[in-house]
Amino acid sequence: MKDYKAIIQQYELDVYPRRDVVIVKGKDARVWDDQGKEYIDMSSGISVANVGHCNDKVVEAISKQAATLITNANTYYNDTKALFLEKLFSVAPKNLTRAFLTNSGTEAMEAAIKFARAVTKKTKFLSAMKGFHGRTYGALSATYKKEYRDIFEPLVPGFSFVPYNNFEKLAEAADNDTAGIILELVQGEGGINIGQKEYFQKVRQLCDQKGILLIIDEIQTGFCRTGTMFAIEQYGIEADMMTLAKSIAGGFPMGALLCSEKIQIEKGKHGSTFGGNPLACAAGIAALDVMIENKLWEEAAAKGKYFKEKLESYTLSKVREIRVIGLMIGIELKDKSQPVIVELLEKGVVGLPAGTTVLRLLPPLTISYPDLDIAIAKIAEVLA
Ligand SMILES: Cc1ncc(COP(=O)(O)O)c(C=O)c1O
Repeated sequence: MKDYKAIIQQYELDVYPRRDVVIVKGKDARVWDDQGKEYIDMSSGISVANVGHCNDKVVEAISKQAATLITNANTYYNDTKALFLEKLFSVAPKNLTRAFLTNSGTEAMEAAIKFARAVTKKTKFLSAMKGFHGRTYGALSATYKKEYRDIFEPLVPGFSFVPYNNFEKLAEAADNDTAGIILELVQGEGGINIGQKEYFQKVRQLCDQKGILLIIDEIQTGFCRTGTMFAIEQYGIEADMMTLAKSIAGGFPMGALLCSEKIQIEKGKHGSTFGGNPLACAAGIAALDVMIENKLWEEAAAKGKYFKEKLESYTLSKVREIRVIGLMIGIELKDKSQPVIVELLEKGVVGLPAGTTVLRLLPPLTISYPDLDIAIAKIAEVLA
């Protein structure tokens, strides 16, 4: 057998901190390595496989579309794109009426930043400490973590950070040149920090008073993850723009920026070769069908509650706090999370870090209760 690890180490630019495993196959909540070892995937490829790995409907849709039309220039209309948009807006918040389709989350955020400047004719942005919005220049400028930013500076001017869930500090920082406020409803990378409803309602009011656009990043929280189709449904507010990606197309690369009627952009000012290509749209239709038919938001809510109750029935001496919203789980540890993640992997459970001390778990929403039980028992063992 080829040494895949060695080949990747030789040829791929070494930007990813990597675990010592070669993943070759996935089905629902399970993945396999090249040695045949089986794992329960409590990460979903970072909240991508919400409908499970290699979901049958997604596989079938991609295969069919691949044999029909893979690529289409966005200057031509396309049947699959039309059907995808129709389906997406059947579940989207009602005030969001148009989409710009992308290939990733950071591209959706990049579009939001550009559109906010174009529409408001203002230049500045506020985002939250510990927030994460992507790695391209605009999105990175709104991303807090110094280690992601430092060697790439100078970034886009006009971005500042305020403490999350602190309305007074945000209101103090907003001025007449603030074009947009960019926030996650639940900070994912930042440690599963759950936004307060009251905070977001005040932020919405401030945006209305000052003519600021509210850009909500649902790239990680979207598509049933938090117990509703979109987390914003739990906050009683409307976004002016909302960024989506990750699980939108069942694992196929895709992103979207949803816009309210406030956002009008002149033809030719923005675009993408691959954004909204037929393959991504076919995968997106199938993924949305799976979510709707199986009411995956209900599954997420029920399984998240089950997970928390069951895990808390164990003695967990390494744990400070467990934060859960739907199947978005953050276990705040008393010490660093890395050794815990390595130990879990050895026991056949794939977890994720968030910040330095949080074990982040984002299992497929289709995970079975028996698989969830196995994962909980192993996590409890490691955290005992
Ligand atoms: C909240 C949030 N925003 C933006 C991004 C960037 O998305 P992508 O990696 O698809 O560019 C991520 C990815 O982890 C994310 O979690």
